Amino acid sequence: MKTTISLTAPAQLETESLVAVVLDHSEKDHSEKDHSEKDHGHSSSDKNKDAKPHLRVESNDPAVQSAAAELLASGELSGKPFEINLLHKPAGLKAKRILLLSGGKTKKFAGYDLRRLAGAAVRSLKSRAIRSFAFIAPSTIPPEEAVRAIVEGALVGNFDADYYRSDRKDQKIDALTILTSGNTDKAALEKAAAEAQIIGESQNFTRDLVNEPSNRMTPTILAERAKKMSAEVGLKCEVYGADKIKELKMGAFWSVAQGSDEPPALIIMRYEPAGAPEKPMLGLVGKGITFDTGGISIKPADGMEKMKYDMAGGATMIGALRAIALLKPKVKVIGIVCATENMPSGKAQKPGDVQIAMSGKSIEIINTDAEGRLVLADGLHYAKQLGCTHLVDAATLTGAVVVALGYTNAGLFTNDDAMYERFSKALNKAGEKMWRLPLDDEYKENIKSGIADIVNSGGRWAGAINAAMFLKEFAEDTPWIHLDIAGTAWTEDQKPWIAKGPTGIALRSLVEFVKSFAATEKA
Ligand code: BES
Ligand code: MN
Ligand code: ZN
Repeated sequence: MKTTISLTAPAQLETESLVAVVLDHSEKDHSEKDHSEKDHGHSSSDKNKDAKPHLRVESNDPAVQSAAAELLASGELSGKPFEINLLHKPAGLKAKRILLLSGGKTKKFAGYDLRRLAGAAVRSLKSRAIRSFAFIAPSTIPPEEAVRAIVEGALVGNFDADYYRSDRKDQKIDALTILTSGNTDKAALEKAAAEAQIIGESQNFTRDLVNEPSNRMTPTILAERAKKMSAEVGLKCEVYGADKIKELKMGAFWSVAQGSDEPPALIIMRYEPAGAPEKPMLGLVGKGITFDTGGISIKPADGMEKMKYDMAGGATMIGALRAIALLKPKVKVIGIVCATENMPSGKAQKPGDVQIAMSGKSIEIINTDAEGRLVLADGLHYAKQLGCTHLVDAATLTGAVVVALGYTNAGLFTNDDAMYERFSKALNKAGEKMWRLPLDDEYKENIKSGIADIVNSGGRWAGAINAAMFLKEFAEDTPWIHLDIAGTAWTEDQKPWIAKGPTGIALRSLVEFVKSFAATEKA
């Protein structure tokens, strides 16, 4: 998708379609009102119905306003997010069409929402076989932020997962123009668009890897994709097999890999820009289980097919390294992906087995389906050994995080408040949602073993926390963040802004997080 910034007046632009955001400027929120009325014991009759939306199109071009005026005044629109209307041959505009896209209440409207609207615009227009359009950046959001949100959101919307359908249309938007107004610095906006493009394309690169089924995305293939990408963007990439994994004494990683006929891969990508200081060195560690059967503690058949996306954390790190290599922040980063299948077989590990991790800690295997934390234990330890001063891991780690947070927020765990503050800012910039869960010492009880240092499964209660407590044993004192993306790496429902399938969650935040270290160094 080619992206252009234009300062042309919207009315003057010849395009297949203009896209304009419609916001509701009415003061009261329906839901807020409901609450206050309940509190006062009134029935919810008349007053609520008065809360009519006051809809305005977000463009100061009078021709756009008048093209939208009749529809907005008609009373037909609710103004709720993702309401879409397409008008043909709008009077006074050179555009062939204008798509009016509601964004909800103006006071709540932020970059997060704009990203989704841009995705919705792409999905709506491409389904009509339209290949290019122009999005009017709403002036309620600072121009650079708006440009980033529109480009990233549009790229997310441009992805469809139906790769192997014979009738796959693979309709895509080829060209996006962003119309901005006012006294804006065009060069700065072009830079923002170019960076957002790198990030959005890297996110889709990750989604591409996650989408492939396990027979087409083995550890070996994942490693080859990482290598190919690394060569393209100038990263160093090494891939190690079973021998090296054993030689490094990665007993936790190997305990998962030993049961599979498919060889494992330890993927290491290094980004070492000239002029970057020795420290900090960031370690991004991803769970790369290309298929999780559960092993001997086998999973039920129902839904097992989804376990092809159990390498999403690893794919996220590969995509993040791609973006980082292209954006060139002055900070050292190492990406580590522990890739293997988790299979039952005559060679597979069994419940009760004791494994010695690379760090020397002994682990009693209670459940062979708690395999993600095993591969990450050695991945995190290895990252520290390579000199990483800060660690972030991403993993589709637990069903329990889905119970806790559903499909909306990823779970975030950390042993370092400063890291949390920094990552929160990155989340906000990237328009992603994650929620911090606790790691109190009390939870340590849950992973005690009678025979070894720790068990790999702390049972049912606080399952997502137990998994994180396990990882904490290997991060030790190094500032570390763990992202449990089990509920957010894949979406079962198609949304107006995103197709059903892999989401690429966490990549954008990781990239913003890495960039923030470079910024600190400069200051
Ligand atoms: N890969 C799964 C977690 C998962 C669940 C990812 C749902 C995506 C969607 C992980 O390896 C797993 O099996 N976890 C177990 C841990 C338990 C045995 C302690 C789980 O959550 O049930
Ligand atoms: Mn599992
Ligand atoms: Zn798993």
